[in-house]
Amino acid sequence: MDAESGFEIKPVYAATDLPDDLEARLGAPGSYPYTRGVYPTMYTSRPWTMRQYAGFGTAAESNARYRQLLAHGTTGLSVAFDLPTQMGYDSDAPLAHGEVGKVGVAIDSIDDMRTLFGGIPLDKVSTSMTINAPAAVLLLLYQLVAEEQGVPGGALNGTIQNDILKEYIARGTYIFPPKPSLRLVADTFAYCRAELPQWNTISISGYHMAEAGASPAQEVAFTLADGVEYVRAAVAAGLAVDDIAPRLSFFFVARTTLLEEVAKFRAARRIWARIMREDFGARNPKSWMLRFHTQTAGVQLTAQQPEVNLVRVAVQGLGAVLGGTQSLHTNSYDEALALPTEKSARLALRTQQVLAYETGLTGTVDPFAGSYVVEAMTAEIETLVDDLIRRVFDHGSVVDAIEAGFQKREIEASAYRIAQQIDAGERVVVGVNRFVADTEDPYEPLRVDPAIEAAQVRRLAALRAERDGAAVEAALAALRSTAGGQGNVLHPMRVALQARATVGEVCHALRDVWGVYQPAERF
Ligand code: 3HC
Repeated sequence: MDAESGFEIKPVYAATDLPDDLEARLGAPGSYPYTRGVYPTMYTSRPWTMRQYAGFGTAAESNARYRQLLAHGTTGLSVAFDLPTQMGYDSDAPLAHGEVGKVGVAIDSIDDMRTLFGGIPLDKVSTSMTINAPAAVLLLLYQLVAEEQGVPGGALNGTIQNDILKEYIARGTYIFPPKPSLRLVADTFAYCRAELPQWNTISISGYHMAEAGASPAQEVAFTLADGVEYVRAAVAAGLAVDDIAPRLSFFFVARTTLLEEVAKFRAARRIWARIMREDFGARNPKSWMLRFHTQTAGVQLTAQQPEVNLVRVAVQGLGAVLGGTQSLHTNSYDEALALPTEKSARLALRTQQVLAYETGLTGTVDPFAGSYVVEAMTAEIETLVDDLIRRVFDHGSVVDAIEAGFQKREIEASAYRIAQQIDAGERVVVGVNRFVADTEDPYEPLRVDPAIEAAQVRRLAALRAERDGAAVEAALAALRSTAGGQGNVLHPMRVALQARATVGEVCHALRDVWGVYQPAERF
């Protein structure tokens, strides 16, 4: 196995493959270095959170899907936003045309956020929001709507993804240049520590780098390196490590290669625990714990014979559970074809419920502990990750490495290698390069009604006509002033949003001051 590939597994493992210091490497569940899991009892006292990523069309349509998922037994919410929202544009922006409500829900203002969570008690659910560049904006809208429900900030549980570095590397929904973006992340950390102490301030993600082709070692190394960069930015902004680290969280993929994925999760916990305690001197054990969400591998879903994806997702979900995930999203079998239908979304959730309630797996912690193959792989991946993290920082900072194209180049090399192996048939994809069906069954996809864009644009026009325009302008001017100077931008941002400024207007105010990121052209 090397950093790029993974996948090489020996026919037979024996005691001689176990690391010499296994007991020290393992520790106890819920104790440093957390190899066996972040909590002493793990699923024996509480199964992982079944948190299905969902959202499309208008806030009302997504609200209906969340209610369906809650009725089917989901134990955490997870909001998918459409691209205009993720990029800080309103639904009536020219750039938004054709994308409104397409890959997620359109949220333009406090009115939409209120509709999105109508009838859902925000003190009773934990909500993840997959939002990055404008993460602070959507977080404040969520808090404002919770306050309208009578729920104080201290009672809110959830997570914003808020991981801008991986957007420069792999996902692309960035707005501002790295420096102001890292300031906004640090301001959000500080704001949450004071106002939303139960809120997870960031979900440092390896998922999207994995989906772009990163190997398990690259996924973990580039994610943990990003984590180091965020902690450094927070410390540079005057925050104490133990004040912010307990509320950092992570997000990884679960591939079908089950054993290697279990090893990957166990190694990631060990490495992060060491980085936080040894490199940053964190004293609070909660600062050492790598708590993570997992999503099964979207890129491994096939459009051919889509029902086969039910099996893939079950195996991938099993790997995440055996690896000790805190929260899990299982993909719907039809996602390579279209947005999930209610039935396919229910099947995806039922997959988790079978893992939790029919396999007996929640009855014991870290069942692979002591396994010749998994302990050997855990040690091997840890070595590869350590070396790759060192190579990132050989460039200076993570941002320097990004500007040099290092992570992107490494991931592209790995993606190319995977594509070659699939083309050569060395890496089997059932239904695609082996066991191919002559004909495919008919499938009726869920379609987002194109009329929703016009309806959303009308709602925006009504909002702008009704609100106190002068109050909005004054609040946006105050935001620009803070963004151009010192102070935490979330405070003037909150005032603007409460006055019904839109997501696009708030992001434009910041664009006016901070500009937008232009990646260095590289061929
Ligand atoms: N013993 C003791 N306490 C326990 C326990 C146990 N066995 N199990 C759970 N708990 C406690 C925890 O301590 C926690 O309490 P606290 O908040 O006071 O510490 C509470 O019970 C909830 O447990 P977790 O925090 O472990 O579980 P959550 O589900 O609340 O949080 C998380 C998990 C990973 C920390 C959090 O950040 C999270 O939910 N992340 C989700 C991220 C997400 O959904 N992302 C979606 C991305 S989709 C995307 O990117 C788009 C597309 O492109 C893929």
